[in-house]
Amino acid sequence: MEVVPAHLEYWMRAYYFDTEIDLSSSGVQNFSVGELRQLFNITPDDLDRILLCDSRTLGGPELRRAIGNRWANGNEERVMATNGSSEANYLVMRSLLEPGDEVVVLDPSYQQLYSIAETIGCKLKHWRLRFEDSFRPDLSEARRLIGLQTRMIVINFPHNPTGASVTPSEMDELTGLAAGAGAYLVWDAAFAELTYDGPVLPDPGERYDRAITLGTLSKGYGLPGLRVGWCLAAPDVLERLIRLRDYTTLALSPLVEHIAARAIENGDLLLKPRLAQARHNLQLLSSWVDRHSDFVSMVRPQGGVCVFLRVHDVDDVEDFCRRFADDYSVLLVPGTSFGYANHVRLGFGCSTAEITEGLSRLSEHFHTYRKPNKAAVAV
Ligand SMILES: Cc1ncc(COP(=O)(O)O)c(C=O)c1O
Repeated sequence: MEVVPAHLEYWMRAYYFDTEIDLSSSGVQNFSVGELRQLFNITPDDLDRILLCDSRTLGGPELRRAIGNRWANGNEERVMATNGSSEANYLVMRSLLEPGDEVVVLDPSYQQLYSIAETIGCKLKHWRLRFEDSFRPDLSEARRLIGLQTRMIVINFPHNPTGASVTPSEMDELTGLAAGAGAYLVWDAAFAELTYDGPVLPDPGERYDRAITLGTLSKGYGLPGLRVGWCLAAPDVLERLIRLRDYTTLALSPLVEHIAARAIENGDLLLKPRLAQARHNLQLLSSWVDRHSDFVSMVRPQGGVCVFLRVHDVDDVEDFCRRFADDYSVLLVPGTSFGYANHVRLGFGCSTAEITEGLSRLSEHFHTYRKPNKAAVAV
């Protein structure tokens, strides 16, 4: 089995820990343990009482209940807590797919959402999101791609890296297409509650028993280092995931489960201020883009905290991002991490001070990097 290297992870490994300003991440500003303890009133005694025993395969009861109550209409029997949604995604793909299966994936897409299937030897069908169409998902293309031969459809709305999304009725249509094909519908809801104009989309599992929803505390809740995600699926699907989990991570840590359960029970205390900050940062970013239209174009995101900027007159976007990291200590993600040469992914979920300084350095970088005969614009 030849594992396809995860380009984005190589990029982050090389630069993430050595740059001052992070405009690369797809999540909001992170919280510290101290902030969580204060917000949720977790005392040192609470922590002292936690026994570091083995936990349960599907997750401890408190954590499963918290996830079920917030995201699965109280149906905790549909919940498996995982080490990040990455683990859920891996277990789902490895448990349900076989070589030769046809899988419909978004393009561009977060790589884990298609490369695991690729590694298994599945046939990928690409549902393209195009800059020229403002990244609007074209449902007629989905109708053409999905049929009785489809084994799995992998969706991620709001979408990384473009911020595109669908309306609830488009989501219904997609669920109907999956049901008509009898295909698994994997719905990566990593950015579900980070929306700007549209509503939060419901769990597709309410309508379709082969829908599998993935969620995480890493994005809207600012806790990527806690490594807590989940998968909502029918109990018979969870049984299949357990078989594989018994050979990998087995379970989560009780310490992590305790903090995660408190974070979910008090979820709005984390989500609301970060969403407000992201909304404000998006306004700053939009007006920065307006002032730099000679250099970049942007489609306003419907959700998430990333934009996939189209960069003008830069031949090698990886070199552009590398030089930005080396010379200005600011991290972006080159579009090549998503298979697109003339784009960069910019994350605006950080603090307002960080994005303000990062964009100011990006103005300078554009001016110095681009060929001297290009028109100058106001910084
Ligand atoms: C769309 C999407 N899904 C899933 C993940 C995995 O996140 P985690 O494993 O931290 O939950 C990411 C991380 O960037 C992502 O962008």
